[in-house]
Amino acid sequence: MIRFSSVTKRFPDGTVAVDDLDLEISSDELTVLVGPSGCGKTTTLRMINRLDEASSGIIDIDGADIRLADRTQLRRGIGYVMQHSGLFPHRTIAANIATVPSLLGWDKPRIAARVNELVDLVGLDAQLATRYPHQLSGGQQQRVGVARALAADPPIMLMDEPFAAVDPIVRKRLQDEFLALQARLKKTIVFVTHDIDEAIRLGDRIAIFEYGGRLAQYASPRELLAAPANDFVADFLGSERELKRLALISSAEAEVADVMTIRTDDSPAKARERAEQACLSWIAVVDPDGEIVGWLWTRDIDTQQERVDQLELQSFDRPVAHDESLRAALGAIVESPVGAVLRVGASGQADGLLTQASLNRALS
Ligand SMILES: Nc1ncnc2c1ncn2[C@@H]1O[C@H](COP(=O)(O)OP(=O)(O)OP(=O)(O)O)[C@@H](O)[C@H]1O
Ligand SMILES: [Mg+2]
Repeated sequence: MIRFSSVTKRFPDGTVAVDDLDLEISSDELTVLVGPSGCGKTTTLRMINRLDEASSGIIDIDGADIRLADRTQLRRGIGYVMQHSGLFPHRTIAANIATVPSLLGWDKPRIAARVNELVDLVGLDAQLATRYPHQLSGGQQQRVGVARALAADPPIMLMDEPFAAVDPIVRKRLQDEFLALQARLKKTIVFVTHDIDEAIRLGDRIAIFEYGGRLAQYASPRELLAAPANDFVADFLGSERELKRLALISSAEAEVADVMTIRTDDSPAKARERAEQACLSWIAVVDPDGEIVGWLWTRDIDTQQERVDQLELQSFDRPVAHDESLRAALGAIVESPVGAVLRVGASGQADGLLTQASLNRALS
């Protein structure tokens, strides 16, 4: 765990970049520092590996005050991805990635193997390894920065806006890959961004900073979206806060709706009577095992037939899986003529219908 206790950073010109910060960053988690430009995110990061020294207060890692650590020793255990990739311009990509292993005195074959492994891991083309940084795009350079920071497999990673230079589509892919990587590597990651959506997607916990380097709120993405601590945080989270919350809740967590049903072996006359009595324009159809198989418009029910399964059933076209978000469910609900979507489990078996009421309950 990385702990900040009453940490302030005042630069010689009097600028207070970080103001009386208390923050506990859990091991093996991805903690995001987010906030407007100039609010002290980079400075907070740089104090962890002592590129900037705190003016007052204490930072400890696993209980050991970092001021007492040997700086070189400290940095070997911490990978650092700088805000603007920060690659060495006169070294090849391979040499850049090999920086820390070389310092640690690894032998050449071991370094070469590790470089190959990392180039592959961050999804770079192997032939780029012999190029120089200026021969790469901004997004490729950022990947090299990530590879370099991972090289000696440090338990802690500090990442300063590592995906800022890529377009939204590539960024989303990098984020997905990064989440998958973190699920495997389980590092303690402190990740800086000013993009709140990136913070919500990636973070186990999010620290939102205000101007002047003050911590406005520190919470999980779900807690933040459900209960912003003040107007600044609410503003920063942006409009569509409820939609962002829905995106973080799986459809499995929602309660299925209590809708009126009729069995396939019941009579159409009974179906129509029940729906009309309840002033419903549609009714769901279940088989004798209780599984939902379709639905009918009340007004279209042909009461001349004997059994409901002789009628032409409407189908629920876009079922939602348990691991899909309620945001996806909302999309399907809006598209559904009856405002309901079928939820299906891993086996493909439907286990109920989600409606707007299910979403409201999940949010409240
Ligand atoms: N060496 C320095 N001397 C004086 N002031 C500094 C120094 N480095 C940073 N600052 C100031 O400290 C404040 C915080 O800077 P910092 O780089 O930590 O912000 P940031 O949140 O990372 O911003 P951005 O999103 O733009 O990267 C800013 O007002 C900045 O101008
Ligand atoms: Mg910064």
